[in-house]
Amino acid sequence: MVTATHRRKVTSASVRAGKGGEKLTSVTAYDYPTARIADEAGVDILLVGDSLGMVVLGYPDTTKVTLGDMLHHTKAVARAKPMALLAADLPFLSYGVDVRETIRNAGRLIQEGGAEAVKLEGGVRVREHIRAVVDCQIPVMGHVGLTPQSVHAFGGYKIQGKKSEDADRVLRDAVAVQEMGAFSIVLEGIPAALAERITREIDIPTIGIGAGPDCDGQVLVLHDMLGLYPDMRPKFVKVYADVGESAQAALERFCREVREGIFPGPEHSF
Ligand code: KIV
Repeated sequence: MVTATHRRKVTSASVRAGKGGEKLTSVTAYDYPTARIADEAGVDILLVGDSLGMVVLGYPDTTKVTLGDMLHHTKAVARAKPMALLAADLPFLSYGVDVRETIRNAGRLIQEGGAEAVKLEGGVRVREHIRAVVDCQIPVMGHVGLTPQSVHAFGGYKIQGKKSEDADRVLRDAVAVQEMGAFSIVLEGIPAALAERITREIDIPTIGIGAGPDCDGQVLVLHDMLGLYPDMRPKFVKVYADVGESAQAALERFCREVREGIFPGPEHSF
């Protein structure tokens, strides 16, 4: 097993160079302890995703997440000093409106948050924003397909690129992201065949979520893969450990033992 102490620091350049090599791994991290666990496990990219709005802050979607929220959580993950690349999401409307504001906000995630790369959603629509951030020496990860910040525009979380004209649109977005200088791109919620085609046609690594097996890497939301939301299990998620269930059982046992006078025992008392 390659543990954090026995591996090289992952950088945007090493991720970019990894196209076609060993598959890339990425999970979301929003705090210090989970960043440490994921990093020790050998994950390549820790993503402070704006999914934190839903899985940590309890919002119904990611559009409520602020740059302040992202900075708070990015700082916590950065304190783990991961060997993994630390990428952070630019939240809804913190980019894509005014280019100078996009640069300033991306810069804050790097300077104040400690991120080493930023991720933003969209392709053709935000091409000049991607270019401007890249020109400021900030590595950009793209994100196309079912982009969650567009949930209201899409009318729900709907798989994108099923019809051939939609597939062409997603491909054009991916090509635009590459042309603007991004070092990698997340493909979310698209048919596996389309993800395979995009992965073949562009030369930056694709990292899939709900995009089939043929991407250059895979990313999952930590809370999904650890089963922290047993009532919300999308088809593309594999639950690798039922942490939610075992945490609840542990807490039920704690309540019972305190009520029955079992805890604390002599070994826990001074
Ligand atoms: O916010 C997030 O967690 C993401 C991943 C799902 C890619 O963007």
